[in-house]
Amino acid sequence: MIIGLDHVAIAVPDLQEAIARFLDDFGLTYEGSEDVEAAGTTTAFFPVPGTSIELVHPLNGGGPLAKYLDKNGGGIHHICFRSDDVEADMVRLREKGYRLLSDEPQPGAHDTKTVFIHPKSCGGVLIEIAEHTHGAEGTAHAAG
Ligand code: CO
Repeated sequence: MIIGLDHVAIAVPDLQEAIARFLDDFGLTYEGSEDVEAAGTTTAFFPVPGTSIELVHPLNGGGPLAKYLDKNGGGIHHICFRSDDVEADMVRLREKGYRLLSDEPQPGAHDTKTVFIHPKSCGGVLIEIAEHTHGAEGTAHAAG
């Protein structure tokens, strides 16, 4: 079941420049960055009440996000709903015809298991569903 908006993710071609923007210009709290091997991304988190902003940048300059940036440039990349049972949500959404990007949940940042829904089956929006595996219901925690 979806229980919240975990984060909004922004694809950034220059991670340090984007961190400086959200930290210095917007005055958000920078919670640190994390490499997510499964997704091929480096992520940086800025918690805001109830949710987070997640910056995503290609890990080691490659992977699907690098292709995305080449094609689209920076911008809003995905939104992530927080779930209390990602497997159950996957079953329900598959039955409704949504195309998921993996057969099983993948490891995300901050001890989450996550799945992405293909934007072509979701009105052009890339949606992630993340379950915090350590029961972190805290609003400051975000997923990959
Ligand atoms: Co995400």
